[in-house]
Amino acid sequence: MNFSKFGEKFTRKAGITQLMDDLGSAMAGGDMLMLGGGNPAHIPEVQNLFRKRMEQLLAEPSGFETLIGNYDGSRGNQAFVEALADLLRNEFGWDITARNIALTNGSQNAFFCLFNLFAGEMADGSKKKILFPLTPEYIGYADAGLSDNFFAARRPSIEMLDDGLFKYHVNFDELEVGDDIGAICVSRPTNPTGNVLTDAEMLHLDSIARERGIPFIIDKAYGTPFPDIIYTEAKPIFNSNAVVCMSLSKFGLPNLRTGIVIAREEIASAIADINGVINLAPGGIGARMAMEMVRTGEIIRISREIIKPFYKRKAFQTLELFRQELGGLPYRIHKPEGALFLWVWFQDLPCTARELYERLKKRNCLVVPGSYFFPGLENEEWRHKHECIRVSFAQEDATVEQGVKIIADEVKKLYAVK
Ligand SMILES: Cc1ncc(COP(=O)(O)O)c(C=O)c1O
Repeated sequence: MNFSKFGEKFTRKAGITQLMDDLGSAMAGGDMLMLGGGNPAHIPEVQNLFRKRMEQLLAEPSGFETLIGNYDGSRGNQAFVEALADLLRNEFGWDITARNIALTNGSQNAFFCLFNLFAGEMADGSKKKILFPLTPEYIGYADAGLSDNFFAARRPSIEMLDDGLFKYHVNFDELEVGDDIGAICVSRPTNPTGNVLTDAEMLHLDSIARERGIPFIIDKAYGTPFPDIIYTEAKPIFNSNAVVCMSLSKFGLPNLRTGIVIAREEIASAIADINGVINLAPGGIGARMAMEMVRTGEIIRISREIIKPFYKRKAFQTLELFRQELGGLPYRIHKPEGALFLWVWFQDLPCTARELYERLKKRNCLVVPGSYFFPGLENEEWRHKHECIRVSFAQEDATVEQGVKIIADEVKKLYAVK
């Protein structure tokens, strides 16, 4: 098939595509232990609230017909966007209105638009990149540039902590930000590691971005105020230089594809313009499902009182399980501070994490090999990239337990034959 450059680029087997394929076929097969994907848990209390909300929508006069039968504007459902601006103003004191917000079809879509707004070939002919100041970083960023050589990235510094934990930090000594950088981007909490960059790191990155006159993109797919899957203290940042991305996915609505971009007006309206061309309008069912919860502030209570404790319990339970199963082996786990994953580092692993992944897949246990999570550092030789795996703990406890036991068993065999 004679595809364009665009076609060639996007039909290459990207890391994210492989992950989604594995996830899809594992879900279809039924007997795979899914410790791999980023699917959020089905939390019964939250799902019941959504079920009730859907029943209410259907019971309203013309509720069903409006839900399925009308396009929203290119910025997304106006009433939702206004309610969200009010909520964020009240909760955080952010100086925003509806004009600072645009919805997208999932935040994945928002990153594609934002990255290609700020990097690639610029209107003046210069070339810019998106900088990840700390990798490991989210796998889904890796192929989201329209051209090659789109990302720059830095290794972290590693702080060894007690109890077999460690924490990544931005290595500011190595963080030169040249004229070729169009924007800085971090996820906080970070997928895959569960790291939450400290307030000091965020302020430092923010000041570098302002100094360079480039946007600071903050991915809050797991952040405050919803879904609030964050187990540590962290102040949210917003200012005229920040581009904050949120999502309803980890709040429990991943299939309704609702992403949220909050930024200065010209950026929010650029996203709406791109929506218009690519999608006409973002889908509006997620916005309608969450509307009342945003208007009343319930979305914050549900996140704080149900979603956060649900994942926090699972995070620390899974950590304990690894400690029991891996005792004596040279492993460390990233300090769990948020998100749905544990990031396990097997020091001097006798094979690559990719080979470990294949071995685990044969035993019906799916994880994600760490080497995918270094967008921008693909060509850099660094053993650490091949020593880590991402383990999701979002599934049922029994599934996670079985998976951890298989991982431990396989890793013990590997170290034994060293
Ligand atoms: C850090 C991070 N950002 C963005 C996304 C994209 O999520 P969505 O497109 O469902 O909003 C994900 C999904 O797992 C994620 O982990």
